[in-house]
Amino acid sequence: MTIVVESGSVVPDGVPARARAVLKGEALDGESGGVTATLDAQGFSGATGETAVVTNSDGTPEFFVGFGEGAELDGEACRRAGAALAKAAHRVDAIACDCSSVLVFGLSPVEVATAVGEGAILSSYRFAAKRQKTDPPRLSRVILIGPDERALALGAERAEARGEAITFTRELVNEPPVELTPTRFSELARQRGAEKGFTVEVHDEHAIAEMGLGGLLGVAKGSAEEPRLVRADYTPEGGAETTVTLVGKGITFDSGGLSIKPLTAMMSMKYDVAGASSVLGVLGACKKLGIKVRVVGFMPLTENMPGGNATRPGDVVRTRNGKTIEILNTDAEGRLVLADALALAAEEHPDAIVDIATLTGGIVVALGKRLAGLMANDDRLAAAVERAAERAGEGFWRLPLPSGYRSIVDSDVADMKNVGPIGVGSALIAGLILEEFVDTSPWAHLDIAGTGWSDENDGYVRKGGTGFGVRTLLEFLEHYEPLGGKANDNPAGRKVVR
Ligand code: BES
Ligand code: MN
Ligand code: ZN
Repeated sequence: MTIVVESGSVVPDGVPARARAVLKGEALDGESGGVTATLDAQGFSGATGETAVVTNSDGTPEFFVGFGEGAELDGEACRRAGAALAKAAHRVDAIACDCSSVLVFGLSPVEVATAVGEGAILSSYRFAAKRQKTDPPRLSRVILIGPDERALALGAERAEARGEAITFTRELVNEPPVELTPTRFSELARQRGAEKGFTVEVHDEHAIAEMGLGGLLGVAKGSAEEPRLVRADYTPEGGAETTVTLVGKGITFDSGGLSIKPLTAMMSMKYDVAGASSVLGVLGACKKLGIKVRVVGFMPLTENMPGGNATRPGDVVRTRNGKTIEILNTDAEGRLVLADALALAAEEHPDAIVDIATLTGGIVVALGKRLAGLMANDDRLAAAVERAAERAGEGFWRLPLPSGYRSIVDSDVADMKNVGPIGVGSALIAGLILEEFVDTSPWAHLDIAGTGWSDENDGYVRKGGTGFGVRTLLEFLEHYEPLGGKANDNPAGRKVVR
């Protein structure tokens, strides 16, 4: 059960508990001296994410939720405060939160309501299959109270659409890989398309071979599970001139194949489906958010397993755009399935392509668990992603696509090898390989290997699949400005080495 976010200008009848948004240093007008003393005694200062509780004379609890300094109030502060609110109030079934004090700063009421609601929804997420075992939060309604009820209502709706998209993405990632096979993923995609207003085409193994997707087939060969290629299409009502294509890596389990992973590295590899799961999550929210551009999604889906028919190091595959790849390390499989999907995307000449993938351990080494990698062949597109990420409160750091590194993957028997030397700039090499398949389309690559999974509960981030990237992509699509042409000739980070 996810939280329903509502709004109002007064507290509706029957709501068992109240909360109040408090800024750091705010004088709590209207509260009795006793309340202020109680808050002081609890060490409550109004810092972002702090909470305190006071029992009113009628026995009902009143929660105080810190939103931090007014001058620093941003979406992220609101999201963290929303998460803290839901955590503090998890034992009541509904809470009405007076947001008046935070509605007077730079953020619009729509943005405040979106972020607070989102924080509450995301923090109370529990993986469905586990819910009976853990003590689930009772909280099922958050009502945001403030003067501009219409704006709050709009924000509440956005919070629900975005929260649902991220929850859906987390569910897919957290599902045991024996359940979430490529076939099942494609069935869920069909179902979601029918529910959420986009069309879905599913291509089976036979069709994948017919289409010449040698990279995807090469990875799938070692698995007993059949691969799938899902293409989804959201067209806004009345049509759209601009198309943005999203491509998501969908490895439902990455054992490494014959280049098998060490045991600890394999433990969490069900989350290698995070990219495709984000793309499907995003598509499901487009209609409700009124996204004005057409959004196409490609999801190449397969396991990477070391079965008797598995691709061997030394094998060569021919990809959709005719380029051949010598596979020397079967654990570098993401680039193979993305090669085909990116080539298919580029054939349709969209205005831009954005791929999202748990692509390399190298990005985790370089940027850690809270920054994702961004690489792009177009500076305008990179800037648009960075602006979206800023609004979404997700961290991305742009890395170069150094053309001088391309020769590292020159092959004697194919157009390229699938790996360079282990541990040497592997995130960048992966980016350079992907770039071979986007033709002249403006393209950005998001490497979420570090950010797609969390080992701890931290505010609105829960253990397991994080849904990282969904908010950025939705912000990006909501504010999309057409680029109208080919990628830059000389984007930042291209000729940095010879
Ligand atoms: N799925 C992994 C990348 C990954 C690593 C995701 C850690 C999440 C956490 C990918 O398929 C992979 O195995 N990449 C290799 C590539 C290497 C062999 C060039 C890697 O990064 O180690
Ligand atoms: Mn791998
Ligand atoms: Zn992988």
